[in-house]
Amino acid sequence: MRIYDIIQKKKQGEALTKEEIEFFVDGFTSGNIHDYQASALMMAIWFNGMTDEEITDLTLAMAHSGDMIDLSGIDGFTVDKHSTGGVGDKTTLIVAPIVAACGGKVAKMSGRGLGHTGGTIDKLESILGFDTALSKEDFVKTVNEHGLCVVGQTGNLAPADKKLYALRDVTATVDSIPLIASSIMSKKLAAGSQGIVLDVKTGSGAFMKTVEASSELAQKMVSIGNSAGRKTVALITDMDVPLGNAIGNSLEVIEAINVLNGNQKDDLFEVSVALASNMLSLVHSKSVEECEKMTLEAVGNGSALQKLKAMVTAQGGNGEWIETPDLFPKAEHSFEIICENDGFISFMDAQKIGTASVVLGAGRESKDDEIDFSAGILLRKKTGDKVQKGDILATLYSNKKDSFSSAEKLLKGALEFSSDYTKTNNAVIKVIK
Ligand code: URA
Repeated sequence: MRIYDIIQKKKQGEALTKEEIEFFVDGFTSGNIHDYQASALMMAIWFNGMTDEEITDLTLAMAHSGDMIDLSGIDGFTVDKHSTGGVGDKTTLIVAPIVAACGGKVAKMSGRGLGHTGGTIDKLESILGFDTALSKEDFVKTVNEHGLCVVGQTGNLAPADKKLYALRDVTATVDSIPLIASSIMSKKLAAGSQGIVLDVKTGSGAFMKTVEASSELAQKMVSIGNSAGRKTVALITDMDVPLGNAIGNSLEVIEAINVLNGNQKDDLFEVSVALASNMLSLVHSKSVEECEKMTLEAVGNGSALQKLKAMVTAQGGNGEWIETPDLFPKAEHSFEIICENDGFISFMDAQKIGTASVVLGAGRESKDDEIDFSAGILLRKKTGDKVQKGDILATLYSNKKDSFSSAEKLLKGALEFSSDYTKTNNAVIKVIK
């Protein structure tokens, strides 16, 4: 078999066989197939697409290119969730404790922030002492004892995807549904959970900007998961506005605590309830409606918040911070964005708002940058809200006072106003099974 012939075949729009796909993935992972050959193949896939069978073969080959995590030591049904990435998306911090409080087992590997989007691992590390690099044994033990544990992805999880993603990033081949679906699902399958709930974001802050494209991606991922023997469901959720009001690491943990305390009933609450209910429906094989009742009970009686505290303590963090969020260190400086218009907010560019939070120090501008955990943005108004000249639209937080002027410019450039009320999107747009 020759990689040249495989590229030629895909260039002509033909479907590749399982053996050809495995030959490519093995050869690329081991370094026998060069970056320029993989790039040419990725571009051919970008133009000509892949059949469902090819997508599944590519996903499985990438999943098996490294460690397949064995969660058989966990007693109970393991369920994972994955978000395609968004701004202000702290749902893992809310959903994992709810599911654990209701009998599910959440053994989760999460990522760090990427571009304008935040990452769960960075958020958890804003809690003093929190360890996201537990050994495999401690990971399993924590899940067995408390029902949940969140760690960073190991270096050898789907290494073919890691190499390929870096290449796609610089060859303009990220935005291909077969390539995104196989990339995400290879990591989910390798991570070992029996059930998977996918949160596919759509809108200005998401990879997929339309409901049609998000639904097509979701459909492909659900069918890959199910055909690999994992119970898989996808929710299409709105990312035309940031989720909730907080953007930035410790600000988002504090907001998650607020939701778990039952004090915030907004879009963030709605998406979290939908995700948790769908995860529990996979765990218990009960209807989503029944599981929604369990979800609301776990928030109402405080058991979900206690699960978050138990996980934080078990992973070396200071659990007192969960009970008393005032203990999180505050940024040295804050700055208010004042409204200059009367009317309604008609649009918010979530990607620009995410970028403003990175400028304040909440994310990395280059790979090795240190994060300022206390930096970020609290939105005081969102799309659909009535505003008046002089209202506070948002508060910026940072330890770098000189970052405020560029963050302010980005944030103001992200907002559009109108004299009429603009209907907002539903937070949960649809469910794909
Ligand atoms: N996230 C991934 O893990 N892979 C992609 O291709 C896109 C988003």
